[in-house]
Amino acid sequence: MLDRRTLIRGAAALAVSRFLLAARDAQPVDAPLRGPLDPFALGVASGEPVRDGFVLWTRLVGVRGDRVIGWEIAADAGFRRIVRRGRTVASAGRGHAVHLEVAGLAPGRPYFYRFHAGGHVSRIGRTCTAPASADRLRLALTSCQHWEQGYFGAYRDMVERDVDVIVHVGDYIYEKSFGKGPDVRSFGAPEPRTLSDYRGRYALYRTDPDLAAAHAALPFVVCWDDHEVENDYVGERGVATADPHAFLARRAAAYQAYFEHMPLRPSVLRPGGEVRLYRTIDWGELARLHVLDTRQYRTPHPCDAPGKRGGQVVRTCDAARDPAATMMGAMQERWLARSLADERARWTFIAQQTLFSRLHLPDGPDAAYSDIWDGYAATRNRVIKSLAAPAVRNPVLLGGDVHSFWFNDILRDFDRPENAPVATEIVTSCLASRSGPEALFGPALRLNPHVRFLDNQHAGYVLLDVTRDRVAVEARAVTDLTDPHSICRPLARRTIEDRRPGVQA
Ligand SMILES: [Fe+2]
Repeated sequence: MLDRRTLIRGAAALAVSRFLLAARDAQPVDAPLRGPLDPFALGVASGEPVRDGFVLWTRLVGVRGDRVIGWEIAADAGFRRIVRRGRTVASAGRGHAVHLEVAGLAPGRPYFYRFHAGGHVSRIGRTCTAPASADRLRLALTSCQHWEQGYFGAYRDMVERDVDVIVHVGDYIYEKSFGKGPDVRSFGAPEPRTLSDYRGRYALYRTDPDLAAAHAALPFVVCWDDHEVENDYVGERGVATADPHAFLARRAAAYQAYFEHMPLRPSVLRPGGEVRLYRTIDWGELARLHVLDTRQYRTPHPCDAPGKRGGQVVRTCDAARDPAATMMGAMQERWLARSLADERARWTFIAQQTLFSRLHLPDGPDAAYSDIWDGYAATRNRVIKSLAAPAVRNPVLLGGDVHSFWFNDILRDFDRPENAPVATEIVTSCLASRSGPEALFGPALRLNPHVRFLDNQHAGYVLLDVTRDRVAVEARAVTDLTDPHSICRPLARRTIEDRRPGVQA
C-alpha cells in the first residue's frame, strides 16, 4: 500500500515511538489493527473554530473496512479534566478519515484532544474555540508548499509565535515537480491522477514533522488553489488534462482526497461533486474572515493563445473585462455581497487565493496576467463594490499563490493612484518553493504605485496581529529553505490603521 510505504520511508520511527509512549493509557475500543504501524501516523488536526466548538480530524492508515474509533476532549493537556468523549466511525469510503464536529464547549479557550483505535492512541492535539468577544487575534497567513523545493520549518515559527489560527489559502500540495533548481527531497511517486494517488501525496506531506506538529498545535482554516488538482485549472477545465471527462475524474479524486485530509465540516460535501469551501469564521466582533474559493467556479481564462491553456500574459484582451466572466461563480459572489452588507466585525478579512490588485506589466499598459484577478477584472470590480458596503469598516484582502510578498493599496480605479485606497491587500509568499517569475514581478514596484511593499526573493509567511485600533503585519522570511532546522526572521513590518484603508509605515 502506498500509505504504508510512505510511512516506512517518512515517519514510522517517530510514530512508533510515540505510540509506545502513549499506548499505556489507551482504552481499546476496536479489534486489534493489522500491522505494526501506528494507525495515527498521519497525525491529528483541527479547524473551523466557532464559539462553542470546532472540527477535529484524523485519518487512520494501515486498516481495512470501517473502524470504530474513540475520542476524548480535555480542558487540560494531561487529560485530567475530560469534558467530552465518544466514538465515531472511520469509514473506508472516506479513506478512514474522521471529521468530528464538536459543539457545546466554552468560548475563547484552549482544548486538548486525542483519538483511540485498536489499542493505539493518537498524539495529543491542541485547539481552541473562538471567543465571544475579543480584543486581539493573531493570524498566520500561508500558501504554496512544494515538498521537493523546501522544508516546512516556517510552521515551527508559527507554533513558537503562538498564533491563534493558521489561514492556508492554497497550494497545500503540489501535484508535480516544477522548474529547475536544487530540490531537498523527492515526491518518490509520479504525478497523482487517481484517488489513491492523491491520498498518497497528502499522506507524504503529513510525514513532514513541522507540518504535522503545526496541525496538532493550532487550528487551520483552509481553502485550496490549483495545485491541489493540477496547475492553473479553472472550474471544470483542465490544463495538462485537456480531455474534459478525464479532467473531471481527476478533479473529483483530488477534491475527495483534499476533503479527507483537511479539518473541514462534512457538510462541505455537496451533491454533484461540489466541495463548498466558501464560508465565514468569526473572532468575536473583532474580525470576520470570509474564505473564498476562486478555483472551483471560475470561467475559463480570457484570451488563451491558440493551443495554450493556463495562466499567461494577455494583451488587449477585452474578455479579461467581460462582466459575464467570473472568478467566483455567481452564487459565491451573491453570498459575499450579502455577507458584506451584513458585516458587524471591526476588521473584514477576505482570504482568497491569488493577487487581487491590478498588476501592470512591462509588456505594456494593456497587458495582464490571466490567472490572477487581472484576468477577471469585472469580478474584482464587483468585489470592490461589495467592500464599499457601509457595514464594512476595515476591508483587508489576504492572498498567496504568487511566491512573493506584497502589501498593496486597493484602489477603486488602479489607473488613478492619486485617489485614496478603499481597502488593503496582504499577499504571503510561498511557505516552501522557489520565488515568483522575476520578469513579471521585477518591475512591479516601478509600474504599480499601489504596490507599497514587494519581495520576490524569500519564502516564508505573514503574521497579522489584529487589535481594535490596527493590524500589525509582519512578513517573516525563511532563512534557508534547504535547512530543515532553518529559522524565520522579520523581513518587513507595516500597519493597517482602523478606518484608514491602505498600507501604513
Ligand atoms: Fe503556488
